[in-house]
Amino acid sequence: MAKYKLSDLTLDEKLHLLSGKDNWSLSDAGGKLPSVFLADGPHGMRIYNKDGSVRPATAMPTLSAIGSTFNRRLAYLSGNTIADECIEEGAGVLLAPGVNTRRSPLNGRNFEYFSEDPFLSGELGASFIEGVQEKGIGTSLKHYCANLREYDRFYQGADIDERALREIYLEAFRGALRSKPWTVMCSFTPINGIYASENRYLLKDILRDEFGFDGVVISDWGAVHNIYKSVKAGLDLTMPYHPDNYKNLKDAYDRGLLRDEEIDFCVQNLLTLCERTENDKKVITTKKEERHENAVAIAKEAAVLLKNEDRILPLTSGRVLISGSFIRRPPTGGGGSSFVETPYVQRPLDALLNEKGGATYEMPIGQPLDSSGRMPIGLRNLYSAAYGKDAVVLCVGEDNKIEGEGFDRTSIRLNPQTEQMILDVARINPNVVVLLYAGSAIDMSAWIDKVKAVLFVGYLGEGVNEALASILSGEVSPSGKLTESFPLCLEDNCAGRELGNGYTEAFREGIFVGYRYYDKFEKEVLFPFGHGLSYAELVYSNLRVEKQSETEYTVTYDIENRSDFDAMEASQVYVSDVFSMVERPPKELKGFSKDLIPAHGKKTVSVTLTPRAFAYYNTSLHAWHIENGIFKIMVGASSRDIRLAADIEINLPDETQYSVYFSH
Ligand code: GLC
Repeated sequence: MAKYKLSDLTLDEKLHLLSGKDNWSLSDAGGKLPSVFLADGPHGMRIYNKDGSVRPATAMPTLSAIGSTFNRRLAYLSGNTIADECIEEGAGVLLAPGVNTRRSPLNGRNFEYFSEDPFLSGELGASFIEGVQEKGIGTSLKHYCANLREYDRFYQGADIDERALREIYLEAFRGALRSKPWTVMCSFTPINGIYASENRYLLKDILRDEFGFDGVVISDWGAVHNIYKSVKAGLDLTMPYHPDNYKNLKDAYDRGLLRDEEIDFCVQNLLTLCERTENDKKVITTKKEERHENAVAIAKEAAVLLKNEDRILPLTSGRVLISGSFIRRPPTGGGGSSFVETPYVQRPLDALLNEKGGATYEMPIGQPLDSSGRMPIGLRNLYSAAYGKDAVVLCVGEDNKIEGEGFDRTSIRLNPQTEQMILDVARINPNVVVLLYAGSAIDMSAWIDKVKAVLFVGYLGEGVNEALASILSGEVSPSGKLTESFPLCLEDNCAGRELGNGYTEAFREGIFVGYRYYDKFEKEVLFPFGHGLSYAELVYSNLRVEKQSETEYTVTYDIENRSDFDAMEASQVYVSDVFSMVERPPKELKGFSKDLIPAHGKKTVSVTLTPRAFAYYNTSLHAWHIENGIFKIMVGASSRDIRLAADIEINLPDETQYSVYFSH
């Protein structure tokens, strides 16, 4: 029996409900309803106090880092952990996760998104949502959709063909929606000429009628340009409060532009949300220190070992010089509404490393370079100290001054001073290990051949230094894998230096985004999607593909660990439609598994391929379609390190197929 009913509300109360009461809360119809409190963000709570300060909270790894874990359980764990702080702070909905596609490495918010691949983003987004909502806290799947740049984000549109919209930019949302987020947040972006906030095709025809979404559609903050048109298009809640919101709605209603049933449709969704937020699942199960440990555990599986020449890592002996401002003040996340003010006091990385024993670490005197390349103090101290050491660890990269909401990067290279410093140190000492902090791809072409190892740190939250100490010392083998292709240079990326024309940006590459693009056009990359090294030697074998039905298969394979290291491994299953009546990517990720392979042990991994693994969106049928024919199933350690493969043939009944006439 519904507790909150439309019939209990006056028209004025309904119109006020259609926009926020303030920056963060829903209206409460004069006390008839609970005033639901919305709070950022995907990496931990970000709640403002009345004085404008931000309340302290646990800084979890960013979604891009969670993406690199390829681990559904850790996505769930992060959401579950943040939910405890939502309960403590009285938030009813967490404004997360974001599942937008990492199309251009310039995008300032790539660190807030899981991947360039919609299947991976959808899977991890679904797990994150489950983790939060299992605790009776709602989520907001965002930013629906195609919010792929921060550059001119409020106004510049995206011109996207139907297959790309369906197979890439909507697909991550469709996948994540299986976890039934209580809300979806629409983006700022005009999609094919119509703002997302008033795009009925997206908000109703697709999101509700096709995808089955039954929650509340919230606008991004400031994304509504005409509130009554947004209500008519199915946008339930305009955020934040603005004094004109009610007036404009009332005017439209009085002029007959907005009908009662349109208002009631949106208000009913808001009443449902109010009911959902009043539940008995809000039980805090973690203490502060446990939340920190969860952040560390996720971080340990997120760092990506890109290069490890001569197996220089782990560093288990010798004298090591370590340098960089991030040793004491590591970036935990990127800038903007997802940034978490953690009270956690970082222990310096060198101190943590020295506690591990084995190698001994020391820092040069003087002020090292920081992310912006501001001139250091006494580089020569670094250079003279580097001479003769067994190894040099350089902590370099970006931070929330360079990557964040509201602005894009202008380059994917490190600043010139940092590149020069890496080259100078490498001339002095042949054993350079780079710890690279960033939320998106970095062009390392200027220096990658001069260093022995690169560990891509990403933004690992407050547990970053403990995680790095475990990995560098060999206590834990790295197991992160890239969820974004690293191109040899920005120009090689499908978006390149394109910035749009102020009105819109045409996504001319269509479905060929990320590894789909580099594979299709046979471009070399610096590091491919899915790449990440381990300390262990992992051997894949014994592939079996078992047919469960004409379009459902179980892919089983063995992974053997021929090393002394216990290792987690993210194995990936790709599918290719060998002969197709439309252009399709050479391979697409359609399954993955993260498994512990004990030292000298073996694990049998099993991944299920559902019909979605074979289908593409047919724009003549305006529906997903599976063609009969041969499909190649590939199992890889990365998208370009395919270890096992097998063909299957799909033969669906003739009535599901469309004739292909051959000239005789
Ligand atoms: C911002 C962001 C969104 C965030 C919201 C509230 O504009 O785009 O991700 O949740 O506003 O801060």
